[in-house]
Amino acid sequence: MFYVFPTAQDIARFVSAQMHQLIRTQQRLVLGLATGSTMKPVYAQFIDKYQEQNCSLEHVHCFNLDEYIGLPAEHPQTYAAYMQKHLYTHLPFVQNQLYLPCGEHWPSDAECLGFSEHIQALGGIDLQLLGIGTNGHIGFNEPGTSFDQRTHVVALSEQTRRDNSRFFNNKDEMPTHAVTLGLKDIIEAKKIFLLATGEQKAQIMGALQRSDITEHLPASILKKHADVAILVDEAAAQELDPAQCKEGSVLLEKIEMH
Ligand code: F6R
Repeated sequence: MFYVFPTAQDIARFVSAQMHQLIRTQQRLVLGLATGSTMKPVYAQFIDKYQEQNCSLEHVHCFNLDEYIGLPAEHPQTYAAYMQKHLYTHLPFVQNQLYLPCGEHWPSDAECLGFSEHIQALGGIDLQLLGIGTNGHIGFNEPGTSFDQRTHVVALSEQTRRDNSRFFNNKDEMPTHAVTLGLKDIIEAKKIFLLATGEQKAQIMGALQRSDITEHLPASILKKHADVAILVDEAAAQELDPAQCKEGSVLLEKIEMH
């Protein structure tokens, strides 16, 4: 179901509150986390709320979706650096419970599979956060990726390289490959939030709403999942059919009752 919120900050309020609720209520929590511009307000509000609530994070395990291949460890645009900057350095997470696929060297098939198996060994992902690429990718599963893939190496599409080169000094610095959790892993998460904010996401969200389930549009796999909420702000909702959307306030009211 698509939920339309007035702003990206409203989505962040809802998602961060849901994360805190799971932290309070589950004995062990496995979070699936994403990077990118969309997630920044979510992590910022999560940190603010933590400071109010001061709950324990000892039982929380975090797995990231993806990582570029070939950037040196100290490069500021690795997703490991992003996670440190926007979330991990601010809160007392247990460091050896924070996992990212390794992109410093080309990962072997066994390393890739090991990442998926590690998630399974902890009982699977309880809540997976996803952003979406303008081409419909989730994680770095580009259009055409098999729905049956687990963690694997991908060649980034031209569109993704163009979109993400904004974070690099020039397009040549932008990696050509990445390692990503597969669609089979993602769809096994117990609960999924897909977030899309800003007018640059309006076209793909319209396409996603109208689409059948097809490997040409990776995010369409989410239509198979029983517990997924697609959270969009008004700018990203411009091409959605309002008859097939609910107002985000329905979800916000639920958290405010807690
Ligand atoms: C990032 C990831 C990607 C992004 C997507 C949107 O870990 O998996 O799928 O979520 O490319 O990126 P932003 O939020 O920068 O528009």
